[in-house]
Amino acid sequence: MKTKSWTVDRKDDLSRSYPQISQAAALLKENELVAFPTETVYGLGANAQSDEAVAKIYQAKGRPSDNPLIVHVADKEQVKKIAAKIPPLAEKLMETFWPGPLTLVLPKQDGLSKLVTAGLETVAVRMPEDALALALIKESGLPIAAPSANLSGKPSPTLAEHVAHDLTGKIAGILDGGPTGVGVESTVVDCTGEVPVILRPGGITKEQLEEAVGTVEVDRALLKEGEAPKAPGMKYTHYAPKADLYIVKGSMEYLQSLVDQERAAGREAGVLTTEENRAAYDADAVLAAGWRSKPETIAAHLYEVLRQFDERDLDVIYSESFSEEGVGSAIMNRLMKAAGQRVLTENH
Ligand code: TXA
Ligand code: MG
Repeated sequence: MKTKSWTVDRKDDLSRSYPQISQAAALLKENELVAFPTETVYGLGANAQSDEAVAKIYQAKGRPSDNPLIVHVADKEQVKKIAAKIPPLAEKLMETFWPGPLTLVLPKQDGLSKLVTAGLETVAVRMPEDALALALIKESGLPIAAPSANLSGKPSPTLAEHVAHDLTGKIAGILDGGPTGVGVESTVVDCTGEVPVILRPGGITKEQLEEAVGTVEVDRALLKEGEAPKAPGMKYTHYAPKADLYIVKGSMEYLQSLVDQERAAGREAGVLTTEENRAAYDADAVLAAGWRSKPETIAAHLYEVLRQFDERDLDVIYSESFSEEGVGSAIMNRLMKAAGQRVLTENH
């Protein structure tokens, strides 16, 4: 299949008819797949009402069919056609954080392809903030099922180039709107019980959620190994780099000593660090994700840096660890998954 690519200049007025968006929306209406930017990561969109369209998502990504998709909407009204019920606390969360990087799990209504929800009685819904994403969904007139637009087992794409690398020839089109902002996926919150439960940490932090609706719980599977997670996707290793990745808790000298040992044994070692610390390391590849003093810059570039490591021929990567406060909770969740939960602690 030939994959079309459209570039959109964000300075243009997207509220008026815009040929790139009209063409992309037309393909969605024909049940084809179109990748588009959101404020978190690029999504791979399909008509959420069509089995034919949604089946193509699982096929193009190589995604297990028991891992349900998020339905993207252009306004709050659209949710009423997707969810059977909107509990007051979900209403409050929508009011506070939409459009934005927050996905709500709600009881589902009929009308969506069963493939979207992978047989569950609930549906995940999100209204993205990105103007391009909103314009595309609105113009299609459809609820849009969209997982991250990467091959299963690769990091989520934060640039259109990442999407092209993974999916060229497998999808109908890519809408290139430049780099995404947040860089890690949306926070997924289960709103079907009395108390909201975070199933996946992301762009909206637990602290922000609690400020809006009081007590918020965290899925036990996120805190403890070996429990079945409620967000089916959380059980899969999101992504494992080609080299063995370890999270290092300890001093920079300790991390450097680990690198030195590997290199003395003839292995190539990389370091995942921050702008503040990068000059202090000597390794075969030293990549900084962002500024330690600005965790949101680390979230924004984490997946890009992990993809860059895959292009080097390394045997092992040692990563600094980060504070779990705020967006740090999403950063550490994704890093720990990429590392297969392997942590090296100084003095152990
Ligand atoms: O930021 C994002 O959320 C991006 C952009 C494109 O919007 N999308 C995204 O989709 O990350 P995906 O498919 O890569 O991750 C969706 C997550 C998975 O962990 C999935 O298991 C969970 O949401 N999920 C979907 N429906 C669910 C449901 N009904 N109940 C519980 N978890 C659900
Ligand atoms: Mg994904």
